[in-house]
Amino acid sequence: MSNSVPKTLSEGLAAAGQEHLLAHAATLPSESAAHFRAQLASVDWNLVAKLVRRALEGGKDQEDPRSLAARAVPPRSVVRLPSTPGDRERWQHAREHGEAWLRAGKLGVIVVAGGQGTRLGSSQPKGIYPIGPLSGKSLFQWFCEQLRARRERSGQPIPYAVMTSDATHQETAAYLASHDCFGLPADEVRLFRQGHLPAIDAETGRALLTAPGELALSPDGHGGMLAALAKANILQDWAAQGIETLFYHQVDNPSTPLCDPAFIGLHLDAAADVSTKVVAKRSATEKMGVAVDVDGVTRIIEYSDLPADIAARTDADGRLTIWAGNTAMHILQREFLERALVDDRALPFHIARKVVPYVNGDGELVTPSQPNAFKFERFIFDVLPWAHTALIVEGDRAEEFNPVKNRDGDDSPETSRRALMAQHRRWLRRAGVLVDETIPVEISPLVALGPDDLIGRIPPGAVIRKPLYLTESRMQEFHHHAG
Ligand code: UTP
Repeated sequence: MSNSVPKTLSEGLAAAGQEHLLAHAATLPSESAAHFRAQLASVDWNLVAKLVRRALEGGKDQEDPRSLAARAVPPRSVVRLPSTPGDRERWQHAREHGEAWLRAGKLGVIVVAGGQGTRLGSSQPKGIYPIGPLSGKSLFQWFCEQLRARRERSGQPIPYAVMTSDATHQETAAYLASHDCFGLPADEVRLFRQGHLPAIDAETGRALLTAPGELALSPDGHGGMLAALAKANILQDWAAQGIETLFYHQVDNPSTPLCDPAFIGLHLDAAADVSTKVVAKRSATEKMGVAVDVDGVTRIIEYSDLPADIAARTDADGRLTIWAGNTAMHILQREFLERALVDDRALPFHIARKVVPYVNGDGELVTPSQPNAFKFERFIFDVLPWAHTALIVEGDRAEEFNPVKNRDGDDSPETSRRALMAQHRRWLRRAGVLVDETIPVEISPLVALGPDDLIGRIPPGAVIRKPLYLTESRMQEFHHHAG
């Protein structure tokens, strides 16, 4: 029966209680059998066996996240937005520290772009999604151009590691290559693919198939980044290049200030292992993970694990007690990640029950109406409790957090584009330009990276009356007309 599957693999499958896959392999024609064998060989069945055991036992080996949430208090190790002259001085000092770090070439950037983007429902990887309100440029272009501008300012390479998954790898690689990484040196951009795990039937504990000869595989969560970085030797290579600090971001927030010097500086000043950027939650019910302290340890609790009554608690001034919404921008020390990598406890798998269509024993496709399967994912923010110091830094939502998650409504391409235009109008006004709320505006990252970057570079008093996509060449025109 198992003559086509290598012995160690068939033993591994049998030990994991997945013999049905061996039987299935034996029924396949040779072309699809080879593909199926390769899929089987790409899975850590020993790990799957452990996860299935945990899932079938109901995850009793870990404290119920809701009972953790009951003990949650606001994070203690926190830097709020500056409000006093003293605060502003501290932020300014931090900004200079961060800039010096960039000039010393000690920062690498990681974007996680392996998600399936189910809510957005685009057929392409999310990074290819056109987000520029006027330019139509993609999220990837937006980020690559930011990095190009940063790199020019710092005079040092800033390596960019792009995490992909089975779902996004080929298209992302082809896209970035065909656009020459939007001007970033090709040897500074590295793609690495995250791992995957099979969806498991919640009744039987057996791995599901999406079609004959096709395992139901899904990416192992953004926390899969750590193992995938190590597998691709990126941590080692970056160590050799003198990279000490990693700026982590997600592919879906075009307002991310990549390599934000103030954030880096605050992280360094606190000698933190990891720092997380948060913004004040808009409402108790906003679907955002929160940064909290539980028993004196800083961690992130997912919104789905935060009971409504705890989320709704307020202080004497009526402000949310659990206020710090996670933006998923993190700064991580490389050495801290290397320590986390060798500690199995650092990034535990989360078990979720999901609807997973599958083929049954008769080869028919079944689409269940209720969650039928376990999926397993790791979350990068689970490293926080393992840090000696985890710092929480507050950011300005309008300037920094504006994600594309859903096709319509909140956090959709439409809200994101509107927020970008509003953001860029503010930058222009700060430089003394007159532009009213009805005028569509977009500023290329190659022209400005932040609110202060246009000051003194555009003639104050200039009036914008029609849609403006401000590129480097349009900047020249401004000066020409002003002159
Ligand atoms: P989300 O959790 O928002 O998921 O990912 P998503 O795939 O973008 O969208 P939905 O939930 O299917 O609608 C947050 C970030 O983490 C990355 C995503 O690409 C996004 O940048 N991610 C998520 C990964 O890189 N790998 C994963 O396995 C999961």
